[in-house]
Amino acid sequence: MKKVEAIIRAERLQEVQDALDELGVSGLTVSEVMGCGRQKGYTEQYRGSRVNISLLPKLKVESVVADELVDKVVDAVVGAAYTGEIGDGRLFVYDVVQAVRIRTGERGEDTVRHEAPVGWGY
Ligand SMILES: Nc1ncnc2c1ncn2[C@@H]1O[C@H](COP(=O)(O)OP(=O)(O)OP(=O)(O)O)[C@@H](O)[C@H]1O
Ligand SMILES: [Mg+2]
Repeated sequence: MKKVEAIIRAERLQEVQDALDELGVSGLTVSEVMGCGRQKGYTEQYRGSRVNISLLPKLKVESVVADELVDKVVDAVVGAAYTGEIGDGRLFVYDVVQAVRIRTGERGEDTVRHEAPVGWGY
């Protein structure tokens, strides 16, 4: 299992979510974060105005996926988050050693493989 963690522009979230949904990821976590990249201390466009602060608001999108899906997820997130401008974000991939579905006690990589849950569609 791998965790794909992407720091993206807020305005790209819908595209990223749609791309992940198309691949059938079993879940994701989104957080509001502050951060900076290589331009720390310099300026970056934020919603049309130039700002000169060292931390900018971004969204962090995390999804734990089965090994065979990682490359597709990386390509999909990068494609969906891309604008070509400075500050498009970063993506990191981590090894995940365990996953547990708390309700059922199931463990392991199968728990992050997509399957339609019981009651799906209701
Ligand atoms: N080395 C890093 N470690 C952790 N988070 C990072 C790192 N680099 C960037 N980030 C996070 O990613 C966000 C977006 O970074 P950003 O897109 O500016 O990266 P960059 O490497 O400066 O690329 P660019 O030149 O396109 O701006 C930052 O606000 C920060 O939250
Ligand atoms: Mg940057």
